[in-house]
Amino acid sequence: MTKLCIVGSGFLGTQIGALSARNGYTVSMHDVSEKAFDVSKSSVEEYIQEWISKEEINQDQIDEIKKRISYTTSLPEAVKDADIVIEAVVEQLDIKREVFRELDKLCKPDVIICSNSSSIKISHIEDATKHPERVLNMHFYGYPWRRSVLELMKGSYTTDEAIEKARAYSHSIDVYPLMVLKESTGFIFNRVWRAIKKECLTVADTGVADFMDVDRAWMSLYKTDIGPFGMMDRVGLDVVRDIEMVYYRESGEKRDKPPKILLDKIKQGDLGVKTGKGFYKYPDPEYSKPEWLHGK
Ligand SMILES: NC(=O)c1ccc[n+]([C@@H]2O[C@H](COP(=O)([O-])OP(=O)(O)OC[C@H]3O[C@@H](n4cnc5c(N)ncnc54)[C@H](O)[C@@H]3O)[C@@H](O)[C@H]2O)c1
Repeated sequence: MTKLCIVGSGFLGTQIGALSARNGYTVSMHDVSEKAFDVSKSSVEEYIQEWISKEEINQDQIDEIKKRISYTTSLPEAVKDADIVIEAVVEQLDIKREVFRELDKLCKPDVIICSNSSSIKISHIEDATKHPERVLNMHFYGYPWRRSVLELMKGSYTTDEAIEKARAYSHSIDVYPLMVLKESTGFIFNRVWRAIKKECLTVADTGVADFMDVDRAWMSLYKTDIGPFGMMDRVGLDVVRDIEMVYYRESGEKRDKPPKILLDKIKQGDLGVKTGKGFYKYPDPEYSKPEWLHGK
C-alpha cells in the first residue's frame, strides 16, 4: 500500500494525512470545501514544526512530506489509484452513508474503506455499499503521533483480509491497532472514557461535589496535569453532548440523558477551549497553576 485517500480534510483528516505522508504515503486529501484546504495546509505546517522541534524528522524531510500531500474537491480524482481510503467527514450518519455510497462506486473491490467516526458503527453504514466486506471502523485519537493507538472494528460482513490490511497500514505509520472483538458503541477506550466523564458530570450535577474538586481528586490521585472536566473542555462541550446523545438514543434510558450542568454551559455558549470558556477559563485555566491543587 502506497497511496492513501482522506475524505474530509478537517481536524482529524489532516492529522491522519500528515502522519501518513511523514511515513512515506502519497496522500490525496478531499473535501467539499476549498476553505478546509487552507486550514489543512497551515495545520500541516504546524505539525511539521512540532516534529522538527522534537527532532522526530529533519529539515530535509519537510519538502518531501509536503510534496506527498495533494488536495482536490473532486472525489473521483482523490480516490484514483488509492489502496486505502479513510473517511473523516462530519459526524452525521446521512452524510457518511452518502460518502460511502459514492466511494463504493469509485473504488475497486480490493480497496478498503475505513470510517474514522467517533461513535457511528460501520454496521449503520455498510448497507449503503455493494461491497460491505471491505468497510470497517478505524478510529484514531487526536494527534495520533502523540497518542499512538487506534481502534479497528468490523461490521457485519468485514473480512479478516480487510482487517489485516488496516492493521498493516496502522503499523506502517507507527500507530498500534487495538482490535475491538465485538461491535461496541465507543469502541474500547471511548467507552471507558465515557463512563468516567458521565460519572464525573453526575457527581457535579447532583451537587455531590464541585467540579473542581472532582478534577483535583483525579489529578492528585492519578498524577495527571488535567482532570476529566478540563479534558471535556478540550474536546468541546457540544461534542461531549453529541456523543452522550448517541448513547441516550441507543438506550432510551433517562440516566443516559446529558446532565443539566453540561446543557447549561452549552446554552450559555461556553463550549470549552474553543470559545475561551467552558468549565474553566482559557487560555490560562485555573488547574494549570500548581497551587490550585491545594485549593489556593
Ligand atoms: N475531533 C476529534 O478529536 C476526533 C477524534 C476522533 C475521531 N473524530 C471523527 O473524525 C471525523 C471528523 O471530525 P473532525 O473533528 O476532523 O471534523 P471537522 O469538522 O474538523 O472536519 C470535517 C470535514 O468534513 C468535510 N465534509 C463535510 N461533508 C463532506 C463530504 N460530503 N465530503 C467530503 N468532505 C466533507 C467538512 O468540510 C470538514 O472539513 C468525525 O467523524 C469525528 O467523529 C474526531
